[in-house]
Amino acid sequence: MFDLDGVLADTAVLHRAAWQQLADEIGAPLDEATAGRMKGVDRRGSLDILLERAPRSYSEAEKVALAARKNSYYVELIGRLGPQDLLPGARAAVESVRRAGLKTALASASRNAPQLLDRLGIAALFDYAVDAGRIARSKPDPEIFLAAASGLGVAPEECLGVEDAAAGIAALHAAGMAAVGIGRAQELDKADVLLPDIAAFDISRFIA
Ligand code: G6P
Ligand code: MG
Repeated sequence: MFDLDGVLADTAVLHRAAWQQLADEIGAPLDEATAGRMKGVDRRGSLDILLERAPRSYSEAEKVALAARKNSYYVELIGRLGPQDLLPGARAAVESVRRAGLKTALASASRNAPQLLDRLGIAALFDYAVDAGRIARSKPDPEIFLAAASGLGVAPEECLGVEDAAAGIAALHAAGMAAVGIGRAQELDKADVLLPDIAAFDISRFIA
């Protein structure tokens, strides 16, 4: 199972930029450590993390509006993406899994994922894509990965997940799955295997 943002496309930086714009507007500090905690976490969960250090508190209705505002910035940023914005090796990585006779699922917490898959031209590479709108508990909860396994009809213990976020690695482990981390050891020290980028992914390494 593959995460999308930060694994297959460089959209983690676009989420970050959209949050930064909102943070600046409301005067909430957003440093690297806080941004790292927001990675992989759903929209509302990310907002709650950002607001921990906001100069004032917000009502429920205001929070809904803030989350929508961030999303409008993000949607604007992804509006011009196309297949050229896939990370190098991303398409090849997913294709190699299929060629090995294994099933592929997308497990992204983003409700913009279906639109992104279409824009990037990789929707057809997945046997199953989780509908993020139907996931109640954000990563690090295992719910999204368990939903992906069940959508594929595969036991969680037989699944391998690829993630760029610490919350995603924790979610994979909580689901009983092996976790490949894409990024730096500093952030992803819990990953079973750590790769610098998706281009380094080699499925033959994981097949007995
Ligand atoms: C992914 C990203 C997160 C983002 C979440 C929700 O998990 O890594 O940064 O907050 O999706 O995305 P959405 O597009 O629904 O706001
Ligand atoms: Mg991610």
